[in-house]
Formats: sequence, structure tokens, C-alpha cells
Amino acid sequence: MHSSSIFVALSALSSCLAAPLTLNRRTVTPVSAAELASFAPFTQFARATYCDGFQTWTCGPACDANSDFELSLAGGDGNDIQNFFVGFSPSLSSIIVAHEGTNPIELESDLTDVGVLLVGLNSTLFPGVSSSAEVHDGFRDEHEKTATSILAEVQTLMSTKSTNNVIAVGHSLGGALAELDSLFFALNLPSGTNVSGVTYGTPRVGNPDFASLIDQYVPNFKRITNEKDIVPIVPGRFLGYQHPAGEIHLISPGNAVSCLGDDDGTDSQCIDETVPNVLEGDILNHLGPYEGISLGTLACG
Ligand SMILES: *[C@@H]1O[C@H](CO)[C@@H](O)[C@H](O)[C@H]1NC(C)=O
Ligand SMILES: *[C@@H]1O[C@H](CO)[C@@H](O)[C@H](O)[C@H]1NC(C)=O
Repeated sequence: MHSSSIFVALSALSSCLAAPLTLNRRTVTPVSAAELASFAPFTQFARATYCDGFQTWTCGPACDANSDFELSLAGGDGNDIQNFFVGFSPSLSSIIVAHEGTNPIELESDLTDVGVLLVGLNSTLFPGVSSSAEVHDGFRDEHEKTATSILAEVQTLMSTKSTNNVIAVGHSLGGALAELDSLFFALNLPSGTNVSGVTYGTPRVGNPDFASLIDQYVPNFKRITNEKDIVPIVPGRFLGYQHPAGEIHLISPGNAVSCLGDDDGTDSQCIDETVPNVLEGDILNHLGPYEGISLGTLACG
């Protein structure tokens, strides 16, 4: 075939492939059972942040589920500073950083308040980012309280455990903190560090420029949304907020889809379409179960 006819053939093929993209509703990809099951250790790490005894990794079923985990730093008071921990998972060959969430009713009321303020990132913690990338002021302030000590611990573990894999995990407010951590790590750890994020029921953290930074620096970011949870749709897009890509939506047990992202309501079966407004959601779905694992202070036993 001449190169010109190859070009014609490719153009024809690509216009066929492009055609579905012009539809308003994009198609989604089913998540395999194996991939869905692979999230369980992270769900259990997110769960452990709520459970008494996580500071010594004796918090019951959530800690037992990652029994080989080597906890190295635990902090927070569950009040002024959200609980958090850092450590190394030999079975995942990764450093895990996890943050606790908060009462979902309070979180939702805080985030639906039209007074929610978008502010620039702290340029000491997030070197080189444009001032046009903005996040919720409460999330920024909460992240700042633990950022420096967590980064130092991650740096120590990267050298003592000889690993480049760093995974930020969290549910609810803890998911927002994990999202900020994932960008913070990507900007402050050596290039070549494999930073990922796995979050559950995370509210929108910042504006479209912030979302683009996550997309750019943390391509391995997964944002799990459950059934009709309300928290992932607040603060509203009309207030200038937008999620990064990486949504995995749990439709029902064993049935999940991977969404293209962009948080524009066009991913069929994903959270924006499932919960078009807070009145059509169900706050109880915020707590899970996420493939059989419930999260929150009542889900430790
Ligand atoms: C930025 O973060 C650093 C480190 O936590 C802190 O010392 C500084 O006060 C923060 N700057 C602003 C403007 O908040
Ligand atoms: C980066 O981390 C992800 C898990 O978060 C893992 O699937 C992937 O294999 C890692 N990449 C490398 C090169 O280790």
C-alpha cells in the first residue's frame, strides 16, 4: 500500500473511532473482578485510620487485613488534626500514607456552604505550581498541618526500604488530603518516584487547574465513588470546582466502571450522572460498603 492510501485508510478509521466521542454520553469501561479485588488492601488502610489502636497497628480487622504492614509514623488527634499514618507494606512493595476522614453530614454541610473559598496552593509546599491552581481553603490548611512531617518520613522510608512506590490513601476528607498529598509528593520527591493515589468518597478538592495538575503529575490516581454517595458531587461545579480524572464508580457489589474523567457529567453510569444533585443521592452510601468493606468510626469491629 502507498503511504498516501495508508493515510486515507487511517483517516477513515480514525473518523469512525472518533464518531462516538461526539455523543454527549461517553461510554465507560467495566472494571474486571481482579482489578476490583486489588483495591481491598487500600480500602482496609483507609478504614484503619478510623480505628482505635492503629497507632500500634492493633486496630482489629482493618489492621489484620494488612498484617505485614510496618507502621513507622502515626499522628493526629482525630479532632484538630485528622488521624494519619505512614509505613511500608512489603506485600505491596510500597510506602503507604493514609489520612482519616470526618463525619459525612458535617462535611457535606461545610461543602455545600456557598461561602466555600478557593485559594492558591502554598508555594513552599507546592513549588513551581501556577497561582491559578486553587483548592478549598479548609483542605489546604488541614493538609499543611501534617505535610512536612509526613514528607520527611516518606523520604526516610524510600531510602531504608529501597522503594520508589508511594501511595496516598484516604476516605472522605481523608481522600481530599490524600489527593493533595499525591501532588505534594510528586512535586517534592525525586523524579522517578512512582506516586499513586487511591481515594474513596472524596469531595471535589479544587478548581480545573488543580485537577489538571493531578492529571499531569499523578497519572496513577484512582478515585472510587460508591453508588449514590453525595460527597463526591460537592462542592458543586458551579462553584468552580472540578475533580481530576481516575473515577472508578461502584454501581452495585461486584459491578464497577472506570470513567474517562473530566467530571463533566457525561460519563454514563458514573457519579455525576447517578447523583445529578444532592437531593437524589444517599449519604449512607458514603460509608460504603466498598466491595464489602464499610468505612467510618462505626465500621472498625
Ligand atoms: C506554607 O507552608 C510552610 C510549611 O508548612 C509554612 O511554614 C508557611 O507558613 C506557609 N505559608 C503560607 C503563606 O501559608
Ligand atoms: C507504580 O505503582 C502502581 C501501584 O500504585 C503499580 O501498579 C505499578 O506497577 C508501579 N510502577 C512501577 C514501575 O513500579
